[in-house]
Amino acid sequence: MSETVPFHQSVRRSTLEAHQRANHSPFMDALFDGRLAVADYARLVEQYAVVYDALESVGEAMAQDPVAGPFVVDALRRGPHIAADLAFYGVTDPEPLPATLRYADRIREVADRPAAFVAHHYTRYLGDVAGGQAVAALLPRRYGVTGGGTAFYDFSALGPVPRFRAHYRALLDAAPWDEDERARVIEEVTRAYELNIAMFHDLWDTTGAAAA
Ligand code: HEM
Repeated sequence: MSETVPFHQSVRRSTLEAHQRANHSPFMDALFDGRLAVADYARLVEQYAVVYDALESVGEAMAQDPVAGPFVVDALRRGPHIAADLAFYGVTDPEPLPATLRYADRIREVADRPAAFVAHHYTRYLGDVAGGQAVAALLPRRYGVTGGGTAFYDFSALGPVPRFRAHYRALLDAAPWDEDERARVIEEVTRAYELNIAMFHDLWDTTGAAAA
């Protein structure tokens, strides 16, 4: 029988296990259990500053690409939102951890490969639009963060999230990639998850809670 699974579903299914590990990395588990300090969360935002700087500068260059270009929309851009959150947490100079630098380097390395760039774009932005919302709810509830500090998760400029996700999945399904290229996209999404996991690992290692 011929392959009838839409590509977006193959991506999701092939990376479910990596998603679970990212989602349940010790730093994320501790964040969700309310065991971290607000300053630890602020350090995550610092790492995001570096990762999204890479993602969005490569994204600007990709905006003209016929395949990757339509993925790059202003309403997703996190740079200004991250800047607002950093100001809220009193961070003036984000300090990237080694794994964060490796992650940002990888994004820059694929700057001439639209399909690989889309893999990185998907892993971060679709995750932020979906699961990220749980973090937005958590910050006031478990950490008493109010009056700011959650701009990163504000995607109101996108319009209704279900419509956006359907549109994004349709773009993935319509991309003119053959089986080999699709396999490489899945490989790069898996790599992006691993890079996130390594970044969470570095964050965890430098967190007071890790020693507790
Ligand atoms: C913080 C803990 C996390 C939670 C609670 C969480 C939860 C979720 C949930 C509920 C969805 C929606 C599933 C669906 O409706 O189909 C989702 C989707 C997604 N998440 Fe996460 N997630 C977390 C962390 C992450 C991380 C760290 C990444 C990657 C860096 C990530 C990447 C994604 C992606 C790419 C999707 C979209 C899947 C698709 O529709 O193709 N998530 N997540």
